[in-house]
Amino acid sequence: KKTIRDIDVRERRVLVRADFNVPLDADGAIADDTRIRASLPTIRYLCERGARVILCSHLDRPDGVVVERLRLALVANRLSVLLDRPVAALQDCVGPEVEGTVAGMNNGDVVLLENLRFHPEEKVDDPVFAANLAGLADIYVDDAFGVSHRAHASVVGVPEHLPAVAGLLLEKEVDTFTRILEDPERPFAAAIGGAKVSDKLAVLEHVISRVDLLLIGGGMAATFFASRGYGTGRSRVETDSLDAVRDLEAKAAERGVRLLLPRDVVVAEKLEPGVPVRVVPSTAIPDDRIVADIGPGAADEFCRALAGSRTVVWNGPMGVFEVPEFAEGTRRIAAALATLRGTTVIGGGSTADAVGMFGLADEMTHVSTGGGAALAMLAGKPLPGVEALDDAGDP
Ligand code: 3PG
Repeated sequence: KKTIRDIDVRERRVLVRADFNVPLDADGAIADDTRIRASLPTIRYLCERGARVILCSHLDRPDGVVVERLRLALVANRLSVLLDRPVAALQDCVGPEVEGTVAGMNNGDVVLLENLRFHPEEKVDDPVFAANLAGLADIYVDDAFGVSHRAHASVVGVPEHLPAVAGLLLEKEVDTFTRILEDPERPFAAAIGGAKVSDKLAVLEHVISRVDLLLIGGGMAATFFASRGYGTGRSRVETDSLDAVRDLEAKAAERGVRLLLPRDVVVAEKLEPGVPVRVVPSTAIPDDRIVADIGPGAADEFCRALAGSRTVVWNGPMGVFEVPEFAEGTRRIAAALATLRGTTVIGGGSTADAVGMFGLADEMTHVSTGGGAALAMLAGKPLPGVEALDDAGDP
């Protein structure tokens, strides 16, 4: 696909779709500005080359109405500090007032449109809304990897009207995932965790034919235990996924993929801080307990297995890491990847949060800014936002 490096942006009005969907704390302040920081290289690149930069994004899921605490002014303020230049927050994303402001922009100016999802037309890819957004600019840049799996107006509608290219973040995300899936340095390992196996089945089915080692952790390991006939106590077992899990194990055996389940687990009565915890073999989970984390024996085994890998992709925490008692398995994997001499790619969402919480994000080759979009890439699904961009060969 074409990127911003392939085009001349000087004096052009450039509409940049970013993903500024940042977490907010209880006071409505930005709790983590990673996604804003990740967009800086593209914005700086465009400003330095004299473009007029019109940024747009969604924030949360306001469902087509104006929600005061989801206005993007707070993102504009943070951006202007990070960029060290003014970033005007507009009151809407389309309409005569926005058009007037954009018409008065100078080269190098940056404005941020209001939350796209205040308009119900954004999510349904309304063609008039998309045309109005496109009408603000001469060029469209997609730098919103995190939302590239959504066929929304600002993602797939706008690029129908304008020259449409990838920003530097989108390019890096897509290139990283493509490289590890298509041409990984081996041995190639995937560590997959999280609460629900049904959320990860498409990923598991895609990576099983590519990896040399597959580690399974998180609450979803219980469904693997159940498929092997172990008792799982009060852990969630997704009975609808049992057949798929059996197929995966068969496929791993057939292809010579080493598939490791946790040999021991941390169990508790509740997934809450302060509760008594026990470590038990995975074959002896008490009836009244829930699997909350992988055990120390499993963490040792996983870390030893990962140590020989040259490429690792990790998606989904090993336990309920938000609760200190259940964070150790996730922390051990994060620490093992931080010291690995090879390529380490962290899927976004809660895995990225965990790596950030342990202060290890900078030790990884790549921490994705996409949650659902990273899962889509790992599942080998095409991303509508990327498909919509101009091909490198286009005039
Ligand atoms: C994300 O947080 O994964 C992206 O910003 C997409 O948000 P969405 O799931 O609300 O579409």
